[in-house]
Amino acid sequence: MCGIVGYIGKRESQDILIEGLKKLEYRGYDSAGIAVFTNQGLEIRKSIGRLANLEEKLEGQPLHGSVGIGHTRWATHGKPSDANSHPHTDNSQKFSVVHNGIIENYIELKEELIAKGRRFVSETDTEVISHLVAEEYDGDIVKAVQRAVKRMRGAFALGVLTEYEPERLVAVRFASPLVIGIGKGENFIGSDIPAILEHTRDVYILNDGEMAVLTQNGVELMTIEGEIISKEIFHVDWDLVTAEKAGYDHFMLKEIYEQPKAYRDTMMGRVSDDGKTVTLKEIGMTTEQIKAIRKVHIVACGTAFHAGLVGKTIIENLARIPVETDVASEYRYRSPIITPDTLVIVVSQSGETADTLAALREAKRNGARVLAVTNVVGSSVAREADDVIITQAGPEIAVASTKAYTSQLIAFSLFGLYLAEVLGTKDGAWVAEVIDAMHQLPEQVEAILAQANVLKQVAESISKHDNLFFIGRGVDFAVAQEGSLKLKEISYIHSEAYAAGELKHGTLALIEEGIPVIAVITQEDLYEKTLSNIKEVKARGAHVLAIVNEGMEHEVAKSVDETFVIPKTLQVLAPALSVVPLQLIAYYASLARGNDVDKPRNLAKSVTVE
Ligand code: F6R
Repeated sequence: MCGIVGYIGKRESQDILIEGLKKLEYRGYDSAGIAVFTNQGLEIRKSIGRLANLEEKLEGQPLHGSVGIGHTRWATHGKPSDANSHPHTDNSQKFSVVHNGIIENYIELKEELIAKGRRFVSETDTEVISHLVAEEYDGDIVKAVQRAVKRMRGAFALGVLTEYEPERLVAVRFASPLVIGIGKGENFIGSDIPAILEHTRDVYILNDGEMAVLTQNGVELMTIEGEIISKEIFHVDWDLVTAEKAGYDHFMLKEIYEQPKAYRDTMMGRVSDDGKTVTLKEIGMTTEQIKAIRKVHIVACGTAFHAGLVGKTIIENLARIPVETDVASEYRYRSPIITPDTLVIVVSQSGETADTLAALREAKRNGARVLAVTNVVGSSVAREADDVIITQAGPEIAVASTKAYTSQLIAFSLFGLYLAEVLGTKDGAWVAEVIDAMHQLPEQVEAILAQANVLKQVAESISKHDNLFFIGRGVDFAVAQEGSLKLKEISYIHSEAYAAGELKHGTLALIEEGIPVIAVITQEDLYEKTLSNIKEVKARGAHVLAIVNEGMEHEVAKSVDETFVIPKTLQVLAPALSVVPLQLIAYYASLARGNDVDKPRNLAKSVTVE
């Protein structure tokens, strides 16, 4: 997730671009850059690190001109560096592009362009676009962009300039957000409204497959096929703070709602075109190395650890390799048996968690190969691991992790399938069935989100209690642990997650009249067993809400007080759905208690101390 801005008008564009980028810095802060038409032509300044570094650079060498584009980067392809920063250009340096999104087929396009003699200076997918547009250019930038985007697969929001036509700024949207700001004698583009809100409240919100051609005095809207379209102007009446959260009350809520996109983005480019196989190009392990893995250790902290618990089930079921899970703060100190045939998987949203990083180093010291699952390209964990799967969740601002966790589940599913393919532990038809079910997850999450109001009521009633329990078996227990952590950290309500079958060995003594119990019950083969455990708590007066999957709800409803039904999916994928209602319950319970949802007390987003 990156941020893009653009300006065409009469004023100095540099200041407008920088101010716009400041509002978008939450979308990424690995590097920033701008391209402006000056009297020297199309000039670019960019810098690794936060926007302040670029500002410093511009202080010494300002860019004067009234047309420009800007970018703040969240690295996806290529580590954070000056060369990988946007705007990108082509060899003639007459074209400039800013991009938010992922170009899935960039490697094949890059090879084709290199064969045509084009020289690349970065590792990014975006640089392909600038070369492609230059290649397609025959005197009309709009047509060149249209031809170029038809060759691209993936997600993109683009701002494109060419020195040949300094009076036009072209913007395109396909599966990444983009708005067009309408001013008087000036027009704007932005990844979202805050970037341009200071200058105009009248915007066009582009849909997928639409583009805009901006001049100083007008905006022409069309499809990428070139068909002219008209659109209603959307008048923004939000204040800036609301706009930064895209109209949501909190970043956490926004991030919960971003999950369908995060699922799609994490899968993008990692599944073959026919949807039958997983292609993890980022895994450098050879088939022999994969076949030599005798055990897997998954090590992480907090929510990332809970993703690892689900990852254990996925890998053991799909690849039949034994998996141990450890919280990173314990791992080093228990003298784990790490051998060169151990694959250690570290999971970390930030990629900077001190304990996780220490576990990674311990694993490497003992000769193990380390795979990192992280959300941040270029983070310490990503740099030090042997292989890295980047979850494409985009920046997560709220302290309570939501979309990073579910993207980690998608990453584990992809990796599990990849292992199964290489090891031949599952047949092709089964793999294709799982991939198909994974493609349905985003819409299924949307269906859950559409029922947020029901969960709000549940949460409001829970918020009046001081204790509650989450129960489940198998991966449902793993999800129960995540649901419990989420609730604790933002609502400050004490809760415990128990393996449903374990209650009777002690914890059942705590069940008394009216205590809320949330039971996660999605695994058909464990369904009867969990139902018996639900009956045990019901008989002792608990008020039970069951998170149950479609098809089992009628039977379960007979034994509980309330049910929340999640869409049907394969058992192994159920956590990617069943956790969503728990996230919403935690969110609304925190809200009902008047807490600071995004910044819970005593906690920090990135824990870089032991
Ligand atoms: C809880 C939460 C934390 C983190 C943990 C690890 O919502 O976010 O439990 O999961 O601090 O952080 P990362 O994933 O950055 O290593």
